[in-house]
Formats: sequence, C-alpha cells, structure tokens
Amino acid sequence: MSNTEPSSTEPSDPALPWWKTAVGYQIYPRSFCDTTGNGIGDLDGVRRHLDHIADLGVDALWLSPFFPSPMADYGYDVADFCGVDPLFGDLATFDALVAEAHGRGLRVIIDWVPNHTSDQHPWFVESRSSTDNPKRDWYHWRDPAPDGDAPNNWIESLTFGPAWTFDETTGQCYLHCFLSQQPDLNWGNPEVVAAMHDTLRFWLDRGVDGFRMDVVHLIGKDPALPDEPPDVAGLPHTILNDRPETHALLRELRTLLDSYDGDRMAVGEVYLLDTDLVASHYGNGDELHLCFNFPPLYAPFDADAWRTQISTTTAALGPRDAWPTWVLSNHDNPRHRTRYGNSEEVARAAAVLLLTIRGTPFLYAGEEVGMQDAVVAPEQVHDPAGRDGCRAPLPWTPEASHGWATDDTWLPWPPDAAAANAATQQDDPASMLSLYRTLLSLRRSTPALSQGDLALHLDTGPVLVFDRTDGPSTFTVAINMSGADTTTTAAGTLVLSSRAGGRSTFDGTLDAYEAVVLSAG
Ligand code: GLC
Repeated sequence: MSNTEPSSTEPSDPALPWWKTAVGYQIYPRSFCDTTGNGIGDLDGVRRHLDHIADLGVDALWLSPFFPSPMADYGYDVADFCGVDPLFGDLATFDALVAEAHGRGLRVIIDWVPNHTSDQHPWFVESRSSTDNPKRDWYHWRDPAPDGDAPNNWIESLTFGPAWTFDETTGQCYLHCFLSQQPDLNWGNPEVVAAMHDTLRFWLDRGVDGFRMDVVHLIGKDPALPDEPPDVAGLPHTILNDRPETHALLRELRTLLDSYDGDRMAVGEVYLLDTDLVASHYGNGDELHLCFNFPPLYAPFDADAWRTQISTTTAALGPRDAWPTWVLSNHDNPRHRTRYGNSEEVARAAAVLLLTIRGTPFLYAGEEVGMQDAVVAPEQVHDPAGRDGCRAPLPWTPEASHGWATDDTWLPWPPDAAAANAATQQDDPASMLSLYRTLLSLRRSTPALSQGDLALHLDTGPVLVFDRTDGPSTFTVAINMSGADTTTTAAGTLVLSSRAGGRSTFDGTLDAYEAVVLSAG
C-alpha cells in the first residue's frame, strides 16, 4: 500500500508522555471475541487477539467496562468497581491480559464509571434502605414535588424520561442522569470521593496505564440541583456543564494519578458538544490529561466542516497547551463507515484523516477491517437507547462463526463479515487492514505526524489540506472529501495514497474521496 518509504525513522520524542504520541484502540469486550461459547465476547478473547492489535501498530487498548454488572446498560451500570463480571473472566484473566499486553508494548486503559453505579451496587442497596442509612447521602435523594412530580425538570440521557425515580421504600426520589438502574453518586460527599479514589488505586496498583472516565464532566453538581432552562431537551445538560465542583474533583483525580509512576493517564468522556467547554476540562494542565471531543464525530465528511472542526479545536485547546483527541467511531454511535454512507473509499480517506491529524486518535475495534453497523431486527434489540448496530460482534475469520466459539452471538454479525475480517484481509495489500497498518507504521516512525505542529491550508475547496511539521520535516496531507475527481495545490513527494491499489506518482489530481500523504523533504 505504501508507495514510498517514510522519509523519517526517528522514534517519537521519549521526553513526551506516552499518551501524546499514542494511538488508542477501543475494545467493547462483549463484542470482541467469545472463547466460551455463550455468544458474548470475553477477556480471553481479547488475549487471543493481542498479536493482531500489536501488529496493527496501535499503542494502547481501552477496555470498555468488564466489571460485575446487571447489564442494564451493558456494563456502564457497575455493581462492583473492583471485580470482573464472570461473563468476561476473572481478576486472574485480567492480570494475565495486562501482563501480556505490556509484554507486547501495549498500554492498557480501562473504563471507569464515576458518575453513577448500578442500582444493584451494595452502596445503593444500603442507601435506598432507609433515610438514616449511613450511605443515604452517597446518592442524590429528594422529596417529590408537592404535586407528586419529580424534584426538578431534568431528563435522563438515554431514554429521555425523567431523571428521577420514586422509591417506595422511603417515599423519596433518586437522581439518575442515565437509566433508572444507574443512580448518580453524590460526589459532594467526601466519603464518596474517598471510596471512588480507592477504586482507582485498586486498578492502578494492578498496573493499568490509565482510565477512560465515563461522563466525568457530570460528577460535580450544584447541591441545589436547580431546574434546567425550560427549552433544554436532553443532552448536554446545560445546568450540569462546566461546574466548579467538577473542576475541583478533576484536580484531585489528577493529583492521585500523578502520584503514581509511569504517566498514568485520564481521558475524559466530556460529552459536551462544545469544544470550548470540553477544553476547560484540561484545566491548566492540572485536570484531565485528554478529553474526547465529539463535535468532529458528528460533523459530516466535508472539507468545510472539517476545516471548522480543526480551527475550532486549535482555538479552544491551543491557549491551554492542551493536546487534542480524535475519534470517529465508538460504542455509542453508528460506525463512521456506516455514517459516511458505507463507502469503502470514504472510510479509507477517513483513516488517513484520523491517523495524520494532530492529536491522539482512538480507533474503535473493527474499523481497521472496514466494519459496518449490523442491521438489528426489532426482536434482536438489546440497548434501550438504540446503539446495538455499532456493537455487533467482530468477525475474525470468514467462516460462519467468524472465529468466535459459536455463531449464535448476542447481536447479529455485521454485513459483509466474510470479507470484513482480519484473516481475509491479512495478506491483501489492498485491504483496509493493510491501509491501517501502513498508516500506523508511518505515524509511529514519523515525528511530524505523531507530534508535529499542524497548519491548516485555507480556501482549498473540497480538499482538506494540512501540513504537519516537526523541525525540518514537513508532511502535507490532502484529502478529497468530495465524490468528484479534483485537483489540489498540495505538493510534495508521494508517501501514501488511500487508493486501494496505491498509486506510483502524484501530479496534483485526486480521485473522488482519495487522500494522500506527501513529504516536503
Ligand atoms: C457514556 C457511555 C455510554 C453509557 C453512558 C452512561 O456515555 O459511553 O455507553 O451509556 O455513559 O454510563
């Protein structure tokens, strides 16, 4: 796939923290690989494919929740922050996974869900048992309004019902920003802070390299829990945004992580659809190390839209010297291959964008083989919020069970599983997998791409063009985001084209949805 060798082979700057030059790889354990025959992926399934992940060329795994859970929100309703659900394995499996990942030079990040617990968590079971239980104040309990309505007008974020559930045991309501099975913890209570810090220490002591912190922007709340403005209908909750309480809590979390060796890292799922608000959660370098920024995920594959996203990100993060992240797919949204109209060419061009832009990219397992969302029939629906399609099982091989222990999987296979799998694509230089490997290897060996500055070219029409520069080394990336062949002023020696057959020369013309990396050297 690569048309020429990378012009620079120096390793990334060892003085930088690993997470600045790393590429993350999200694994949704339920959907990754089943080794037991119950149709649900497990941690041994992750261990089995560590070579695939290492060969791909990413640097860090992020494991979505594998903790004991009633699975009302597929693991984001945690019943024990310090265990492994038997569906996925046990602590010994987890320890083996971390050791084997580390042995391959891969970091391990795990999900941490601080805003809420499961309603089956022993803390909540205690809390709901009586108004004078010592853990009563670990959650947000309020009397219903005099007319019997909810205590305020907040609505929860997954099914858009009220964010309060009346509990008959004590005649009060509890707050849940997500499902009623996910009561919000009261981080205003120092005992909650201490207990949750302990859960971080538990995993840090086991050697994890960091955490993806689930909806962490919600943890600090105005103790008055005031009404939202009347026109707010869903996410993000304006009344909960950018709270001073949250920033103070994030500084404490940062201090805890920094007290460990090894650059332990926190990437926050700051689900605020405003990059300036996201940026504030980096603090002055004393809050989150990284924040997910979702506006680009929701932007169309369009050059004007991406120029806006890049300049907005630079303007918001630059003054704080904060390092960006980029993500096109995850377990909460349709995969970008599907979102962008299911075109292989667009997905290939998107891979070039994601892996050459300035910041830490996070891949969602399966995108490296061009996975699409599954079509989920009404009788197969699991998720109350309709996110099943992007959680389809990953096919590893072409035959009927696709490398899983059974073909009777918890969700249906994605379309085209006989071709969109690692075994089929492994040795095909024109495959999506080969493109991802080439890009990741180029990025790893090219400091300009992994850590260099970015300069956006303006007025380049349907072609998104930016330069990445590190010292004397400059690379130019040009991505035709339109469905028509076009020309570009971007110039340089061809390093890589997203075209499935590659190309040997570059004369300034780009195919529809073709991306090229050019070297100025
Ligand atoms: C985050 C997770 C999502 C989950 C929610 C509640 O947005 O990514 O899957 O449903 O938080 O924990």
